[in-house]
Amino acid sequence: TPEKDDHRTGYDFVVVANRLAVNRVTSSDGSTGWQRSPGGLVTALAPIMSSSGGAWVGWHGAADETLEPFDHDSMHLHPVPLSEQEVEDFYEGFSNGTLWPLYHDVIARPLFHRHWWDAYKRVNQRFAEAAAVVAAENATVWVQDYQLQLVPQMLRDIRPDVKIGFFNHIPFPPPGLFAQLPWRHSVMKGLLGADLIGFQRESDAKNFQRAVRARLGFYIKSDRVYVPLDADAAAPLEGFTADPARGTAPRQLSAPAEGTYRGSEATAFPISIDTDRIVELSNDPKIIARAAQIRAELGNPETIFLGVDRLDYTKGIRHRMKAYEELLQQGKLQVGTHTMVQIASPSREGVESYQRLRDEIELAVGRINGEFDTMGHTAIRYLHHSYPIEEMVALYLAADVMLVTALRDGMNLVAKEYVAARKDGSGVLVLSEFTGAADQLRQALLINPHDIDELKAAIVQAAVLDREDVRKRMRSLRRQVVSHNVQRWAEEFMHRLHQL
Ligand code: G6P
Repeated sequence: TPEKDDHRTGYDFVVVANRLAVNRVTSSDGSTGWQRSPGGLVTALAPIMSSSGGAWVGWHGAADETLEPFDHDSMHLHPVPLSEQEVEDFYEGFSNGTLWPLYHDVIARPLFHRHWWDAYKRVNQRFAEAAAVVAAENATVWVQDYQLQLVPQMLRDIRPDVKIGFFNHIPFPPPGLFAQLPWRHSVMKGLLGADLIGFQRESDAKNFQRAVRARLGFYIKSDRVYVPLDADAAAPLEGFTADPARGTAPRQLSAPAEGTYRGSEATAFPISIDTDRIVELSNDPKIIARAAQIRAELGNPETIFLGVDRLDYTKGIRHRMKAYEELLQQGKLQVGTHTMVQIASPSREGVESYQRLRDEIELAVGRINGEFDTMGHTAIRYLHHSYPIEEMVALYLAADVMLVTALRDGMNLVAKEYVAARKDGSGVLVLSEFTGAADQLRQALLINPHDIDELKAAIVQAAVLDREDVRKRMRSLRRQVVSHNVQRWAEEFMHRLHQL
């Protein structure tokens, strides 16, 4: 494509996400290039991109580096620069030190810093301006995730002609927790700039609607928020109010008059995975052989338990280890017969709560292995690395039991990938009820990870579950994941957006 960074000619479909859709790769001769990111979102959107002249706006992951837009793999990439200070204040700070813990039920304490908020506003404005530059007249722009919640309204202010979608990949917290955010009104108004706001679960969409109703007073009917065109006049501003209602707004009890509002719909669209790709890999003889090799290398135990997570305090990794340690102590599990593989991929290592978590987990692993390992066998094979999807599927095939014990998770795609890989109907999924995936994967062994005794019972049950029961559950889980892939998710979102 020729240089098209001009909205008279620009792109009809634009994705805006904190991360660009490509990663930089260095070859053996030292030269660098780009490779499409392996995630499901990129996979789902790439076909829409190439068929409709699409562009992706995002940060390329390095600080203090400005890159010219470029084309790769029939996608137009538009890198947004972040300074080192902005990585600290916008990315590690407001996104991952304020919003991430607040939106995940304050599992860690959210920090509120005004200079983080200033950086969040400034960087969101930069993303909105970049999107405004690449979008063609009447284009569709799809903004992704909590790092960019102000972009919809900022973009609408610059480009009222474009259709704007937003999808929140993480939970939206209950209004009582969201209310802690000093900039709650601005965040809601930022999101309401979108024509369609997608959430993972029904309960996330409802949480958002309740916050909007209580704090902004806007009328809502059947997921449709009636946003007054003069929204600033209609809603209380941020800051101190002596009013006993304390920042809550007088509620509108009926739909406002035609011509005085625009609609913004807040609905659930649970995301999924590229199911075909996982199934294809799970049929690959090389990957099947690798799965057997993994089992052999672990000493051919009877039962392999697997955990795969970004190293994040939302994932309940410590709860999982606590349960496993107690089962070893009580002799209900035995090293040699049972083993656990824990993949913990490095994540957000500049954020203090993540550094602390890593220390805690590595201390626990060291303690457990020190006590229970034998010369030939390990209690927990802990790997602090990320692996390519081929190796992940080999692990899914090798594991008898998948442990997903998140304390809160927007969706949890690992649970869905495990199910997709188990084509022969074997394998047990232990799944936290606090994941979005639990709304769809009802035949998993659903657990409350805070209840260590229940978690222990589920781990033991998973290891001894009768074959027919295992198959029945897995068949039902697979029906769900096979019929609801990420391509369908993207189509349904886009279809709804274009109806609005
Ligand atoms: C979650 C978020 C994504 C984020 C990813 C990795 O899945 O919803 O927006 O990109 O984690 O985190 P990172 O901070 O490395 O982008």
